[in-house]
Amino acid sequence: MTRILTICGSTRDGSTNRGLLRAVANMIQGRAVVTQVDIAALPHFSPDIPSPPAVNAYQEALRQADLLLIATPEYAHGLPGVLKNALDWVVADEYFPGKRVAVIFGSTGDAANARIHLLEILTTMCAQIDESLILHLPGSRSKVDREGRFLQPAAQAEVAAFVERLLS
Ligand SMILES: Cc1cc2nc3c(=O)[nH]c(=O)nc-3n(C[C@H](O)[C@H](O)[C@H](O)COP(=O)(O)O)c2cc1C
Repeated sequence: MTRILTICGSTRDGSTNRGLLRAVANMIQGRAVVTQVDIAALPHFSPDIPSPPAVNAYQEALRQADLLLIATPEYAHGLPGVLKNALDWVVADEYFPGKRVAVIFGSTGDAANARIHLLEILTTMCAQIDESLILHLPGSRSKVDREGRFLQPAAQAEVAAFVERLLS
């Protein structure tokens, strides 16, 4: 069974991106193994410090995953620092190249700039990116709540179709 590791680029208590990851896990309903890593618990990256336990656990979870699913907002036309930090910790990981990565951008706008930044980073890290596994959900706060309950049927249909592509 496919093992999917999820990470959320928002640390906000009522995060819609975390809600989206909950919704995806609910829709998958046992058709894949879904786990999550709290990247907010990772220390600031430094090449000088040996990996602390939280980083080791994150790296190991990533190695075991067939697919990494990121749900993130755009911050200041870029990536939230917490997400960039999490990626920096695995830039030199020998297991990252070839890793399948899917992305949901839940943001106020269309997150076009965050997409450019994230794809540049993931390409540099030699991730395997499939355009059909990138979903933009502008106006995310009006589409889904923190628990993953949809507020608009069209958004639910979009995410459901994304999940089917994820599992195909
Ligand atoms: C510091 C900060 C910067 C933001 N910058 C952008 C931005 O550049 N583009 C955008 O579409 N939304 C921006 N937003 C709004 C977020 O997209 C919105 O708050 C979104 O709901 C955050 O995701 P979350 O619900 O998972 O926390 C910003 C929000 C914050 C707090």
